[in-house]
Amino acid sequence: MSAFNEETVLSVHHWNDTLFSFTTTRNPALRFKTGQFVMIGLMVEGKPLMRAYSVVSAHYEDHLEFYSIKVQDGPLTSRLQHLQVGDKLLVSRKPTGSLIMDNLKPGKNLYLLSTGTGLAPFMSVVRDPEFYEAFEKIILTHGVRWKSELGYFEHITEDLPEHEHFGDLVREQLIYYPTVTRDEFARQGRLTDLIQNGQMFEDIGLPPLNPETDRVMICGSPAMLKDLVEILEARGFVEGTSHAPGDYVIERAFVEK
Ligand code: A2P
Repeated sequence: MSAFNEETVLSVHHWNDTLFSFTTTRNPALRFKTGQFVMIGLMVEGKPLMRAYSVVSAHYEDHLEFYSIKVQDGPLTSRLQHLQVGDKLLVSRKPTGSLIMDNLKPGKNLYLLSTGTGLAPFMSVVRDPEFYEAFEKIILTHGVRWKSELGYFEHITEDLPEHEHFGDLVREQLIYYPTVTRDEFARQGRLTDLIQNGQMFEDIGLPPLNPETDRVMICGSPAMLKDLVEILEARGFVEGTSHAPGDYVIERAFVEK
């Protein structure tokens, strides 16, 4: 049996010149945990060309969604960005990844720290009612260079609070914290700085990060991961794994595509 399912593209959305997202059919046998990623790709010169992509859609939805940058000379995204409805996409059968609730100890507040396409796994998290049961507050941060890179902004600010099943949980418990570094915007600065200088906690009305109460999931560039891990470890946070749940988990946003 092949390692991949063949899915069909159902919709494509271009956010700007550099970002797009798309949905596909979902093989009913594909099970994944919120926050995991799969390998997706296309047949190129007779061989599967596959890259890791976090699943954006919720675990209970009957389609799959992915969020991607467009790299003009990227082996896969130079092709993927031209996907059309009806095209075929290969999707691995074995989801995996560390940004899962099982790898975290119980806690009060869950911080989702993302930059760029690192937002992807957290879109699945903020649509999973189990996370609202497990945590009192969920803080979804998204750091980008330009305003146009705030993918899913309207979805988060307008659709989620009105969701028919869990809109009330979103209104009560979700704090969305977008920040932009190179455009004028209501909130500016890198997440690392906003955490270190305390601005983030002043803005959201919660105490500074503390391993006694807070859990953290991080997804972004290697530099962002490194800097945030340093900040967390200095505050006493311990990385969680499947063998030993901890205070934070990380995943590199898969960008070089
Ligand atoms: P900046 O504009 O100051 O570089 P990128 O597209 O390079 O991954 O960046 C996405 C966002 O993450 C940008 O706002 C960028 O800020 C920010 N960023 C880049 N490196 C880091 C880092 N080491 N820590 C925190 N934020 C970072």
